[in-house]
Amino acid sequence: MSRAILVLYAHPDPPASRVNQAMAEAAGDVAGVTVRDLYARYPDFFIDVPAEQELLTAADIIVFHHPLQWYGSPPLLKEWIDRVLTRGWAYGRGATVLRGKSVLSAVSTGGEREAYQRDGFHGYTVAEFLRPFERTATLCGMRYLDPFVFYGAYQTNAAQVRDHADAYRRHLTQLRDDAPPEVA
Ligand SMILES: Cc1cc2nc3c(=O)[nH]c(=O)nc-3n(C[C@H](O)[C@H](O)[C@H](O)COP(=O)(O)O)c2cc1C
Repeated sequence: MSRAILVLYAHPDPPASRVNQAMAEAAGDVAGVTVRDLYARYPDFFIDVPAEQELLTAADIIVFHHPLQWYGSPPLLKEWIDRVLTRGWAYGRGATVLRGKSVLSAVSTGGEREAYQRDGFHGYTVAEFLRPFERTATLCGMRYLDPFVFYGAYQTNAAQVRDHADAYRRHLTQLRDDAPPEVA
């Protein structure tokens, strides 16, 4: 059975991107994956909430895809979450539409892998910095998957970026084709 994947791609400056733009293009190659470029669609930050909720309803897996910026997401993704995940629709009494879906964070960091450890420069893992996304997914009844992280974007080379984009394509393909999780 195949699952529909919605990639919410949030990069404030795609022409300057090395990692995330290559990943977004790779994701677009996968059948069943819809890549939604939020900054291209909403340059004025005015989000079409009904349209976004309709896309979410149709998706089985939602991907928050962005570079890590100040230990979180670029501001448009936060705005998207604030506007789209409304009370009574996404969470709270009577809200059931998102239950049983899965959420994946696909992020890149400027910092190296060693820096994202308890005894490293940043003091916490990337998964720890992504807790607000994990809790958001959980609050809405969704399963939060292990983040898919590219470390060390400042030091990377073209071959590593290509390998990571290929790995992202394979990861999305596998998620698409995996059996859906048991809903508790
Ligand atoms: C405003 C801003 C804030 C950033 N904050 C972080 C950060 O908190 N941690 C980190 O590791 N890298 C940080 N970076 C580096 C980006 O994560 C890095 O440039 C990005 O992952 C590279 O991906 P790209 O090639 O797709 O642009 C920041 C970059 C910018 C522009």
